[in-house]
Amino acid sequence: RIAYVNGRYVRHADAAVNVEDRGYQFADGVYEVCEVARGYIVDMKRHLDRLDRSLRALSIAWPMHRRAFELVLREVVNRNGVLNGLVYLQVTRGVAPRDFLFPAQAAPAVVITARKVDPAIAARRAETGIKVITVPENRWDRVDIKSVGLLPNVLAKQAAKEAGAQEAWFVDTDGTVKEGGSSNAWIVTADGRLVTRPAEHGILRGITRTTLLEVAAGLGLAVEERGFTVAEAKAAREAFISSATTIAMPVVEIDGSPIANGHPGSMVLSLRAAFFDVAE
Ligand code: PDD
Repeated sequence: RIAYVNGRYVRHADAAVNVEDRGYQFADGVYEVCEVARGYIVDMKRHLDRLDRSLRALSIAWPMHRRAFELVLREVVNRNGVLNGLVYLQVTRGVAPRDFLFPAQAAPAVVITARKVDPAIAARRAETGIKVITVPENRWDRVDIKSVGLLPNVLAKQAAKEAGAQEAWFVDTDGTVKEGGSSNAWIVTADGRLVTRPAEHGILRGITRTTLLEVAAGLGLAVEERGFTVAEAKAAREAFISSATTIAMPVVEIDGSPIANGHPGSMVLSLRAAFFDVAE
């Protein structure tokens, strides 16, 4: 495997960053995960638009021209022979002696990796669906920035695993579901309306979420962008999550309560099936 690190393509096993990289010292950096399907990077433009917003929010400069970034992303995918899988990119504020204040000099540091993932794994998982647990929201209020500071997400997803589940949903003090540890959350109401939290309210604006809203419009589905409670989700006709790595993945159990008959819903499976016709 080959990784891109600060201007060089290196063997993945030899890829390394400086111990004083601010990503390592302070989680002072941002990232993106893009799905690779049939050799192309899905919704790359939207991912780079979001990278731009994350970088701006932290006053980190683009490490190279956006066009160059696109070329390098494709090159890493190609050099690793990835037809289906994912590409990971990370930009940090760079290397400087440890100090909280922004360094005057540091150049932003970039790491890009890619790996193959067998699409049959997610396809099989979508046939049975996944289980989620709920956990109290304990993150900061800038989760709209795709920061590499993910400790609450790590702890929540580990708690999910220990409970026999695959994702954890962060729940706000008002009882509404915010999003998963690495995904957005959706339900389908008894009368067949798709519901997902507005992206302006304390969640990451998922690229898959945005594209799925377009898929839903194309299928003529009724959509409500509003918050929903855990109780509403447990009583819903369907529940599911979305992310670059899962696309749309049925949720069949929340905190041990089965959703509907405990099998994946039909609407999430239609959205999943139509996704790659709409994604760019
Ligand atoms: N996670 N919410 C959070 C907190 C996320 O970390 C992610 C993505 C999403 C979904 O966003 P998108 O559709 O753009 O992938 C929502 C990635 C996959 C990760 O951290 O691995």
